[in-house]
Amino acid sequence: MKRLGILFFVLMFALVSLAGCATSTVDIGIVLPTKDEPRWVQDETRFKDLLADSDYSVEILFSQGSTATELSNVETLISKGIKVLIITAQDGDAAGAAVEKAKAEGITVIAYDRLITNTEAVDYYVTFDSIAVGEAQGQYLVDHATGTGNPLYLYAGAASDNNAFLFFEGAWNVLQPKIADGTFVIENSSAAVGLQANATLTRTQMSTILDQVTTNWDFNTALSLAQTHLTAATVAQKGDVFILAPNDGTARAIADAFTADTAVTSYKITGQDAEIASVQYIIDGKQSMTVFKDVRTLVSDAITMAVSVLDGNTPTTTGTYDNGSIDVPAKQTAVVVVQQSNVTSALITSGYYTASQFTFPN
Ligand code: GAL
Repeated sequence: MKRLGILFFVLMFALVSLAGCATSTVDIGIVLPTKDEPRWVQDETRFKDLLADSDYSVEILFSQGSTATELSNVETLISKGIKVLIITAQDGDAAGAAVEKAKAEGITVIAYDRLITNTEAVDYYVTFDSIAVGEAQGQYLVDHATGTGNPLYLYAGAASDNNAFLFFEGAWNVLQPKIADGTFVIENSSAAVGLQANATLTRTQMSTILDQVTTNWDFNTALSLAQTHLTAATVAQKGDVFILAPNDGTARAIADAFTADTAVTSYKITGQDAEIASVQYIIDGKQSMTVFKDVRTLVSDAITMAVSVLDGNTPTTTGTYDNGSIDVPAKQTAVVVVQQSNVTSALITSGYYTASQFTFPN
């Protein structure tokens, strides 16, 4: 009887250990928002490049713009035994439910690029300096405007993405004084016109502007929004125009709409992400600038953090971000402005892209 009891325990122990092995097949789970925005395909590629020789096993899943898919992705990764979750939220508030599930399993949660808001279930945040992104966009427009009365068209990212507010806030910091002094005239948002005397905006005030000018990070939305604005605008509101576009995909769509309008004689338009197609637009003079976010740095920061957690250490951070519930320890990376004059030095000499990916003029 005693022997049988011992045998039973040995068997049980073996079974439990086997089950443990079977469920812990992945160390680090990565959830990215969508393959439809080239930015996130860049991130996937850079993660794969960096992890090619890693000892840790990693799985990358895409949420395809759906919070429900994001949640089921996280559940799948939890069932595979991940210890660290690196996640770019589709919707910063809604992702709280997914990361709270992970946290309840003792998983360390790293918000990647986009802050997850109003939850305590975020351990770390790796990000670019998003206020600086918006400021660089605004500064580019300011630097290229002369005289007064220059038509200004504002566009923004998705209101579900905390970054969209940071980008807009940064741009507003730089543009607002130049709207107040008459350099620019806002042509496509009555809400922004109503707030143009305010040097800073609350999140609620920004929301009222975003309601009118959000692209939802979607090319088609950006294109039809720009077309609607151009249809509504008079010839006097066109001419040499200045356009704040929040990222590259929307910049190309908006640029195409403005190019097609014969009353637009020239335009300056901003962007972000140094997407290959936009770098070509910059070379061709169809997009004025982009803000280059070296995804290699963000990927390496996220993986360094994850590995330090897996090794039982505390990751290094450089500051904190208030997510509405807690101050999340964060590591922030600087951004670089790219325009026609420094495409080669910033993007090709740095090894980020190769010259053969682009067509240069003879
Ligand atoms: C932001 C991100 C940007 C941009 C955008 C569109 O959150 O920081 O780099 O790509 O999403 O997906």
